Amino acid sequence: MFENLVLSPELLPSDPRFGVGPSLVPMDYLEALLATGHHLLGTSHRQMAVRSVVKEMQDGFRKYFNLPEDYVVLIGNGGATFLFDMIGLGLVKEKSAHFTCGEFSEKWFKAHANINWIQAEQIAVPYGEGVNPGLVKGADLICCTLNETSTGVMLTELPKHDDPDVLLAVDATSGAGQIPVDMTLIDFYFFSPQKVFAGEGGTYIAFMSPKAQARAKEVAKLKRYSPIVMSFEHAIENSIKNQTYNTPSVINFFLINEQLKRMNALGEKKVVELAKAKAQMIYAWAQSKRYLSAFVKEEKFRSIAVATIDVDNRFNMDELAQKLRDLQVAYDIEGYRKLGRNQLRISLFHNIQMTDLKKLLDIISYAIEQNLSEI
Ligand SMILES: Cc1ncc(COP(=O)(O)O)c(C=O)c1O
Repeated sequence: MFENLVLSPELLPSDPRFGVGPSLVPMDYLEALLATGHHLLGTSHRQMAVRSVVKEMQDGFRKYFNLPEDYVVLIGNGGATFLFDMIGLGLVKEKSAHFTCGEFSEKWFKAHANINWIQAEQIAVPYGEGVNPGLVKGADLICCTLNETSTGVMLTELPKHDDPDVLLAVDATSGAGQIPVDMTLIDFYFFSPQKVFAGEGGTYIAFMSPKAQARAKEVAKLKRYSPIVMSFEHAIENSIKNQTYNTPSVINFFLINEQLKRMNALGEKKVVELAKAKAQMIYAWAQSKRYLSAFVKEEKFRSIAVATIDVDNRFNMDELAQKLRDLQVAYDIEGYRKLGRNQLRISLFHNIQMTDLKKLLDIISYAIEQNLSEI
């Protein structure tokens, strides 16, 4: 259907990377990295050259998120998936409660359900629906996902509890930086940086409240099994020294730090405004075409970081996504594979330019509308 698609150069976006992670890394960050020459990459992560990048990054996160002074900014290897297990092993006393609405929130639940000395409760909604969390009772750790990357559903309200000993943990992987939350209500906020923060995979970033730090100590005293690499004590100790427990990817820290500088120059409010403008554009586009519809039906849950758009089954989106990939016009806009829908999933992350997004949407409409007469 799309094999004969031809696009003239002035229609093309300036960058084809529209994927929801790994995401677009600006080329000037790579140039800046190259300019560090012999003095950063290939040097020890225990020495000042690398540690000062880590410190700048930690300070950059503090500033961007306006973090309370007494939160620690943890940096470690392994990404959000690694933290799913680390949290289950290191922060849960008896029971965690999980709000699930897609693949990643379920993965977190399953990681805890796999640890047989704690209980894990799943509070699920069908894929494409949002979470209305309300008051949670009976769990000592509550888990929720700020932006469910698989479905394009964002969280609009944090779960509540009425017990001062309960911790709230938020997987913010694809929402961090763009979906604002009250950080003072959250004890463990974490993400992988290959989304809004334009890094690569393999690193985790986490903000940990004093209450969560105390809980980690309390759980460690129970002497349950936990791999040493998942020790919160080591993670905290090293992060305070602007280091990581084991050898990290320095390139990743460099990229994240560049992105933080760019985002801090604007401030969170402006970044969120830009994200909302892109979201408004893409959902209005979906509404304006009779062959499109937003996958997330309830408007307030439509993500301002990851858009999921259903397309009339007569137009095969896997085919179109493949064609745009072959033409090097757009990469990674296929729907989440396990959802199995005729869908496009498009990044609204900070580095996606509004003008590029507009061009991509016009290209998709053009490609589909060329075939309207044939069916
Ligand atoms: C919401 C969410 N949580 C967790 C993960 C897992 O991140 P990682 O692959 O870096 O472990 C992802 C990855 O896309 C995600 O989107």
